[in-house]
This record gives sequence, C-alpha cells and structure tokens, in this order.
Amino acid sequence: MSNFNDLEYQEFWNERYKSQQFAYGTEPNTFFKNCIDQLTPKSILLPADGEGRNGVYAASLGWKVVSTDLSVEGKNKALQLAIEKDTSLEYIVGDIEQCNFPKESFDSIGLIYAHFSPDKITTIHQKLNDWLKPKGSIIFEAYSKTHLPFRENNPKIGGPQSLDMLFSVEEIKRDFPNFDFKILEDVGIQLNEGDFHNGTGKVIRGFGTKIK
Ligand SMILES: C[S@@+](CC[C@H](N)C(=O)[O-])C[C@H]1O[C@@H](n2cnc3c(N)ncnc32)[C@H](O)[C@@H]1O
Repeated sequence: MSNFNDLEYQEFWNERYKSQQFAYGTEPNTFFKNCIDQLTPKSILLPADGEGRNGVYAASLGWKVVSTDLSVEGKNKALQLAIEKDTSLEYIVGDIEQCNFPKESFDSIGLIYAHFSPDKITTIHQKLNDWLKPKGSIIFEAYSKTHLPFRENNPKIGGPQSLDMLFSVEEIKRDFPNFDFKILEDVGIQLNEGDFHNGTGKVIRGFGTKIK
C-alpha cells in the first residue's frame, strides 16, 4: 500500500482507544494465554500491545513485560488495567520499527493482532527476530490473507481490509526461518473479544522456539 499514512494510522488507534470501554476486552487473547501459560515467566516484548490485555496478563503471571504501541491512549488504558490487576509493566509509545533494543534482549515475543503498515512488516519481523534470545519463544496470532471474505460478510469480526496487511504461513516461515514451530497454521476462529473482534474469521497462529 504505497499511500499508507503513519500519522493517520496512529490517530485511528488513538480514536479507537479513547473511550472508556476496552476495544478488545480486558481478558487476554485465548491463544496467547494458552501458550504463555506453558512457559516459565522471564522477559517478554509485546509490540502493538494496544490497551494491554495481553501484557497485563503476562505481568500478572510474573513476566517482566515491555509493551509498545503507536497509541498513547492505549498506554493509558494498559497502565490503568495493570493497576486494577495489581501488577505493572513497562510501556513504550512509538513505532516499533524505530525501537532499538540490544540483540538477544528478550526470552519471548508476543505478536497478537500486530498488523503493521505493509512496508514495515518484514523489517519489524527481522528486528524482533534479532531481539529474541536463542531458545526464546514467539507467540503469534493475527488475521490471515484468507480472512477477507469473512470480514466482508461480517465487519464486526474486524481486521485490516487490505491483503498486504494480512499474513500467511509462508510469510511467517520466510520471516522466522530459524524457528522450530510446534504450531504454525491458517485456521478458522470464533472471536468474542470486546466490540471489535466478534464472529467467525481466519487467523495465522504460531508458537515456536528460536533455534539459532
Ligand atoms: C488490532 S490492534 C491489537 C492490539 C493488541 N495487540 C490486542 O490484541 O489487544 C493493533 C495494534 O497495532 C498497533 N501498531 C500498528 N503499527 C504499529 C507500529 N509500527 N508500532 C507499534 N504499534 C503498532 C496499533 O497502534 C494497534 O494498537
């Protein structure tokens, strides 16, 4: 998408998160929860954590959480949720593409509906790959390239409307070739997450370990 406007995208998210209600609810994403519950709490980076439902959940389990997002409104909601759940996390507002963490900083990375502007996806994935320690884990769930007909049928399911912001198994394999995925699939899903992820759709799911 050549005419993608970063500022408009940031404003879109600030608008969405401005209201008191949590856009995707306050409970963690089910796949994220199922995966992280299997791991020993260490350090985790959650790019595009929005209102923090997943970061706050990880923090409540004892993980040292660094969340990032374009939206300051998202940060405010996440910090509020953390207080409600009696936990804490670090939250950086900004474009993850511009972040510079040292190589091999994190034990885990969670990408949950992290739909970046199309021109940045590969660069961001490469950076995330570098920031993860060997033997570190990745947890990935986001809308699939096969999702568009579901969105057209039922806009309440949510997700980007352009193909180049959606994912495929092949793209995840291409961006994370040095991983052993115990789950990597394009699957149907029934979502009931707040007001903006409701109904039937298609997602790419991945749960893997960095082998080198
Ligand atoms: C669909 S929301 C998902 C929020 C959260 N992960 C969840 O599942 O509740 C997508 C998020 O990606 C964030 N985002 C998009 N591009 C980004 C970028 N380049 N850097 C950081 N965050 C970004 C948006 O601000 C938005 O909060």
